[in-house]
Amino acid sequence: LDNVLTPKVLAGKHVVITAGPTREHADPARFISNPSTGKMGFALASAARHMGAEVTVVSGPVSLVTPPGVFRIDVTTAQEMFDATMRAAPSADMVICTAAVADFRPATSGDRKLSKAELGQTWELERNPDILATLGERYGVDQDEGPIIVGFAAQTHDVLELGREKMLKKKAHALVANKVGGPDSSFGADESSAYVIKPDSHRELPRAPKAELARQILEIISLHADGR
Ligand code: CTP
Ligand code: CA
Repeated sequence: LDNVLTPKVLAGKHVVITAGPTREHADPARFISNPSTGKMGFALASAARHMGAEVTVVSGPVSLVTPPGVFRIDVTTAQEMFDATMRAAPSADMVICTAAVADFRPATSGDRKLSKAELGQTWELERNPDILATLGERYGVDQDEGPIIVGFAAQTHDVLELGREKMLKKKAHALVANKVGGPDSSFGADESSAYVIKPDSHRELPRAPKAELARQILEIISLHADGR
């Protein structure tokens, strides 16, 4: 029924969504990651599909069922997510980066499990590529062609201010900011509230199930996309 009643405002559009955490292995038994469950990314994928889009999800390791009709590419590391997203982006009308990409990876890793003595207590880390910033550079606010670029930011404090800063720094067309940590954390939750930030305005979306939030986010952002 939902499917029948949802306006097909994204018909004919290709939406690419990064989702979930990434894992950065030090050896086959150990990795750096974060608490992202991928729920928001998958909720957006499902909502975009209901709104008529062709949807590709580039997903890190999550325990979620792929929404019907959504094309899913599974990745593990930030580098793999970067490569898959950059391959999909040229044919996209919108790229939404919801993934909690690990910022760093161990400088060395291999196929052999290390003992804790070999592993050591101090890990040398390298920076991972920034998917959103690279998309912003190629297709963002300073460019007049290519997909609409949308970021996410999970913050424990100064949610709106830090979200706006990240949007500007990464040249995204819009950014969705929400709070993590504390009683109304959105990590792993089924409900969340959010700000949808654009360069000259923002909208506050009250706490709602992620499915409903996803629909509202896509509606607000596709209004922007029409102007492109
Ligand atoms: N992001 C990304 N690739 C990265 C890091 C972040 O695509 N290597 C994207 C996220 O998917 C999200 C946005 O950038 O859409 C903001 O992520 P966040 O971790 O808040 O940004 P950072 O610049 O890494 O900021 P911080 O130093 O606070 O972690
Ligand atoms: Ca980060």
